[in-house]
Amino acid sequence: MKATAIAPANIAFIKYWGNKDDRLRLPDNGSISMNLSNLLTTTTVEFQQELFDDDVVIDGKQEKNATRRVSKQLDLIRRRANIQLKAKVVSHNNFPSSTGLSSSASGFAALTVAACKAIGLTLSEKELSILARQGSGSAARSIPAGFVEWCSGKTSEQSYAASLYPADYWDIVDIVAIVSREKKETSTTKGHALAHSSPFFSTRLATIDTKIQRLKEFLATRDFSALGELVEDEALELHAIMLTSKPSLLYWLPATIQIMRLVRYWRKEGLEVFFTVNTGQDIHLICEGKNVERVKTLLRTIEEVNNIIVNKPSAGARIIRDHLF
Ligand code: PMV
Repeated sequence: MKATAIAPANIAFIKYWGNKDDRLRLPDNGSISMNLSNLLTTTTVEFQQELFDDDVVIDGKQEKNATRRVSKQLDLIRRRANIQLKAKVVSHNNFPSSTGLSSSASGFAALTVAACKAIGLTLSEKELSILARQGSGSAARSIPAGFVEWCSGKTSEQSYAASLYPADYWDIVDIVAIVSREKKETSTTKGHALAHSSPFFSTRLATIDTKIQRLKEFLATRDFSALGELVEDEALELHAIMLTSKPSLLYWLPATIQIMRLVRYWRKEGLEVFFTVNTGQDIHLICEGKNVERVKTLLRTIEEVNNIIVNKPSAGARIIRDHLF
């Protein structure tokens, strides 16, 4: 059977960085995110008798490394279904990949949901999240809806994400400013493996559970100022770990820093907006729905910003009827 799924990328308020088991992508710490309504991957999968190898096309291209990673994920699903057929996979992102916008989260969530359906497996949300996690850790969080928590867990079976609140719980907006289409130099998978080499990583792990509790409190009380400050602080802590790992990872471009400084200036001037950044140069600005137009107008004045994508909280991965082939 042929099946198609759509899945959102997500923005982590508390970040996933570092694994206790790299192969299983078992994270060192829990994380919390919001699904993004306008950063989407659509994927169609069909297992076919006549194929000798998986045939994988992502955004119109066939690449060896991407095919290998997709095949590994399909192997997990084939093993579970006890079916050996190879698959045709066509996937489309509506945003640039490998620039730090989490296309692997939406990508592996969509692939997992579509492939399970196509092979005839009926799995729970928890089981899908566990499977998606093994393709890309943050993909675990793109399976459930809205505002999501991924508990680190001690074993693979315990490490999955679940919804804290549905998408319509809070009118928070994530505005992505794209400052370059340059692909990142060091993959996120390699980055996770370096986390332990930072002298500050143990401090991060010792304090992260308190941070998670605080963030959950701010979500529960819808305290936007407190949430925004914590989110910004957390992004900088993540980058402090990256900058001090060996070798050091530096993902920002001058435009990324320029926007960080402007955000702080705009805040001083009375506009409540905060930033967060993942493994790339593009930057996410978080504000309440009522301030979106003001933030967009300000971003448009910055020469280096070549695209702006406005995201509301969104549903998780789901099956759709329109196939890509
Ligand atoms: O799922 P991965 O391996 O692409 O890791 C995601 C890492 C960050 O984006 C930096 C943080 C996060 O929690 O999304």
